Amino acid sequence: MAGPRRVALVTGGALRIGAAISRALAREGYFVVLTYRSSSVAGRAVAAEIGGSAVPLDLSRPSTFRRFAGRLEREFGRLDLLVHNAAIFPRTPIDDATPAAWDAVFDVNLRGPFLLTRALLPLLRKGRRDVGVLFLGDANAFELWPGYLPYCLSKLAVPRLAAGLRKALPPGVRVGVVRPGLVLPPDRFPAKRWERLRAGKAGRRGIRTPEGVARAVLRFARPGTYNP
Ligand SMILES: NC(=O)c1ccc[n+]([C@@H]2O[C@H](COP(=O)([O-])OP(=O)(O)OC[C@H]3O[C@@H](n4cnc5c(N)ncnc54)[C@H](OP(=O)(O)O)[C@@H]3O)[C@@H](O)[C@H]2O)c1
Repeated sequence: MAGPRRVALVTGGALRIGAAISRALAREGYFVVLTYRSSSVAGRAVAAEIGGSAVPLDLSRPSTFRRFAGRLEREFGRLDLLVHNAAIFPRTPIDDATPAAWDAVFDVNLRGPFLLTRALLPLLRKGRRDVGVLFLGDANAFELWPGYLPYCLSKLAVPRLAAGLRKALPPGVRVGVVRPGLVLPPDRFPAKRWERLRAGKAGRRGIRTPEGVARAVLRFARPGTYNP
């Protein structure tokens, strides 16, 4: 049980931007529950380092969300902040954009966060005011990169999902979006191409470091200081 400390859930919090967010929230005093899908070793290591907990979660399997919510309630008793960090960014040029490839992206980047929010709502609302749900968008999604069209479309929808939830959720639940720019290249992304992108217009948009993203998450996490 986490007790009276505020509890934050960070999806995909084992590595990269998610790990920076998890560390920053722990420094801020949150008890951090981070989720992992395949990175169990890294997830447990970060959790141990920050005195939090690591729990498996596959966002493409919404049938597991109710059980997941039950586990959080039993083990941690409360939830104050939900950070939707996990996403996938697979290269899907038009020839590869099969129904399965499309669904894989939207299942994790959009449907999962929506349905997970829904499943965790009772725990978020449990007797407390001022809880938050925060999404990670993408400051460059409107570029509609042809090699990543399903990803860009899924991330373009994220701020609209947040806007819709702002209307649909009870007033005590704040909803926000943080928009990273080009922060970290995906695995095996050609280094030269990344440098060229970072040197261009896309490189100047949004938040550009994991620590910068984490600071934006903290601004949202501090009640009363966030202007959507
Ligand atoms: N990197 C950038 O420059 C950049 C730019 C703009 C926006 N963003 C956004 O910022 C966020 C973090 O970016 P990132 O590059 O750090 O992310 P990432 O490394 O690509 O992915 C974060 C985590 O998502 C988890 N994940 C993938 N599929 C999942 C599934 N089916 N269920 C549950 N978790 C799953 C993975 O967990 P496991 O490792 O445990 O499998 C992964 O470690 C994302 O929302 C991304 O779209 C990033």
